[in-house]
Amino acid sequence: QTSLAVLGHPIAHSLSPQMHNGALAALAKEAPQLADWRYYAIDVPPADLPRALRLLRKRGFLGLNLTIPHKVLALAHVAEIDPAARVIGAVNTLRRLGGANDDQPAHAGGDQCDSLGDGWQGFNTDGYGLAAAVRETLGLDLSGQPVILLGAGGAARGAAVECLAQGCPSLWIANRTAANLETLLSELAPLADKSRRGEKNRLHGFSPARVPDDLPAHALVINATSAGLRESDPMPIDLPALPRPAGVYDMIYNPPETPLLHRARKLGLPRANGLSMLVHQGAKALEIWSGIAASRIAPLMQKSLTP
Ligand code: ATR
Repeated sequence: QTSLAVLGHPIAHSLSPQMHNGALAALAKEAPQLADWRYYAIDVPPADLPRALRLLRKRGFLGLNLTIPHKVLALAHVAEIDPAARVIGAVNTLRRLGGANDDQPAHAGGDQCDSLGDGWQGFNTDGYGLAAAVRETLGLDLSGQPVILLGAGGAARGAAVECLAQGCPSLWIANRTAANLETLLSELAPLADKSRRGEKNRLHGFSPARVPDDLPAHALVINATSAGLRESDPMPIDLPALPRPAGVYDMIYNPPETPLLHRARKLGLPRANGLSMLVHQGAKALEIWSGIAASRIAPLMQKSLTP
């Protein structure tokens, strides 16, 4: 059997096993080599991550996904890292380096000594997932699209890096806490200067409490804050205070309609939740492990999530 897993804490509510196993079952009809591939969810507290990575490699796991709170922590435990994931500063997909299973008795030192840095290669498929989701659900392309990004945490950082890498003409980031916003803006500044179009000043920050007058019209609003996970959460920005956006993408998928998306619906704006991003980042991960194109995998994953 070829094993895959998502590691997180908590992990019980992850949709990834259903999504990956559903796609694998469908793919196996035409690609019989995938018939014995299985995807599991494993609860790993942060302190146990290094040990879990060593153990799962020894057990012959081919690939892993990482979710909260492991995406940044895992960076220190991978032997090789994809350049895009290094820029983002987080990994969500690992592929075992070297072909053979090394499920053999532990040598002296047990699982403490692994000079290969645990023998995993790290990737980040979240940016790909966001760009593909926005294209599919809203018909918008990050490369030509002004973006108003809400949040300055890990999820926002990944989204901002993707927007800048795709050549987004202007990126406006809003965050509740000014200090966190400033930190993110200074980290992104070198990327923003590397504009493919030679444009300057395409990166801006503002407080959601004080919306600037010169925000671009027809921007794509992306929510990368955690505001909306609970019904009692406030909206991360007052949507009607923005010039009419081209669309609203919320990276949250549970609940399916956050207060922000509810407001977008009332305003008649094109909108989508984060389920499509979950699907596309998952499809890209399975492409990395199997070599099958993500574009072929994504509709199968989508179908496996549809009741
Ligand atoms: P993640 O890894 O999911 O991005 P994080 O790094 O903890 O999580 O970042 C959470 C983001 O959501 C931050 O931008 C946070 O804003 P602050 O920097 O002001 O803390 C934002 N956030 C969380 N709760 C929020 C709320 N109720 N209203 C507005 N923003 C909120």
